[in-house]
Amino acid sequence: MRIVDIITKKRDGGELSREEIEFFIQGYVAGDVPDYQAAAWCMAVYFQSMTPAETTHLIKAMAFTGETLDLHDVHPFIVDKHSSGGVGDKTTLVVGPIVASLNVPVGKMSGRALSFSGGTLDKLESIPGFQADLTIDQFKRQLRAVGLVVAGQTHELAPADGKLYALRDVTGTVPALPLIASSIMSKKIASGADAIVLDVKVGHGAFMQTEAEGVKLAELMVQIGRRLGRKMSALIGDMSQPLGRAVGNALEVIEAVETLHDRGPADFREHCVDVAGEMLLIAGLTTDPAAARARAAATLADGIAWAKFREFVAAQGGDVTFVDEPARLPRAPLIEPLPAPQSGYVRQVDAREVGFTVVDLGGGRAQTGEPIDHAVGAVLAENGKVGGMVEAGEPLLWVHARTQKTLDAALARLANAYRFSDEPVAAPPVIHRIIR
Ligand code: URA
Repeated sequence: MRIVDIITKKRDGGELSREEIEFFIQGYVAGDVPDYQAAAWCMAVYFQSMTPAETTHLIKAMAFTGETLDLHDVHPFIVDKHSSGGVGDKTTLVVGPIVASLNVPVGKMSGRALSFSGGTLDKLESIPGFQADLTIDQFKRQLRAVGLVVAGQTHELAPADGKLYALRDVTGTVPALPLIASSIMSKKIASGADAIVLDVKVGHGAFMQTEAEGVKLAELMVQIGRRLGRKMSALIGDMSQPLGRAVGNALEVIEAVETLHDRGPADFREHCVDVAGEMLLIAGLTTDPAAARARAAATLADGIAWAKFREFVAAQGGDVTFVDEPARLPRAPLIEPLPAPQSGYVRQVDAREVGFTVVDLGGGRAQTGEPIDHAVGAVLAENGKVGGMVEAGEPLLWVHARTQKTLDAALARLANAYRFSDEPVAAPPVIHRIIR
């Protein structure tokens, strides 16, 4: 077999066999397939897509090239969640502690920023000392001791995704349904989850722009997961505007801390309670969705989710004094408001524009492996979200920037992210649909 023939076959719309997909993935992980061929292959998949059978072969090849974790010596039933990515999506920081505080262990492999979408690990690394690179042994020990661990991809687990994820980010090949499905599901299968809750975002700030595309992605992953013996469910969440109010690494940690103290923005809190409730349902804590959500919400009100978050941060080397006093987290030197150009109701906040602006401010990466600025980002005003009513000149959001040049560029770009209406506008639903 030759890699160039596999690329050409996909480029021309052919269906790859299991053997061809395994050959490509194993060769890429071994270093025999160079990045330029892998990039060409990703682009061919982007344009030609894959059949469900090809996607299943790809998920398996990516999950089983490398080690797989067996966590059953830690707990008989491991529940995991994964978001398909979005802007202001700090859900894991709140949902993980909620679920773990109810004695359902969460051992999660997370990613870094990808295109306009932020990454959970980058957010957590704004906490001084926080260590995302754990060995399998450390991962298991922490899961046993604390019930919550969030770590990066190791070279041992799903290494194909580790390499492909970074390559896709810089080659314009992120928003391809089979590549997203295989990236998410290979990680989840390799990391030993028995049950997986998928948090699939739809809208202009997500890789799947329409509800129909999101449902297609979710249904494909649910089907494949079930075929591989996993319990699955998926929420289709809104990402037409940023989730919550903060976008940017340390700013999102601050918002997560606020939410864990039950003072977070309403949409983000509702989203977290819905995702956590789904995880409690799938873990079998209750069979009643309303009761599951109520139990999740109670952990925010009574402080046990917050206590679990602190324990988790400390276990991964993070200095908890920074989450106890989040004002000490990295803070940008320049903070300036974006004034509303007119009075009216906010009709649109383009989440993708906000996401790319934060990348340009230094909060994301243009090149694989680049360092990021944890302090920069944007914080939307409470009424600067869809449905909010603003007077001309009132702040829509605040930009947190490192330099005057990036600040000015961000303010100019964000001015185009907003649309207004003279008539009242309804806020979009937080969750569009649940697939159980
Ligand atoms: N999350 C992932 O893990 N992979 C993707 O490709 C997109 C979102």
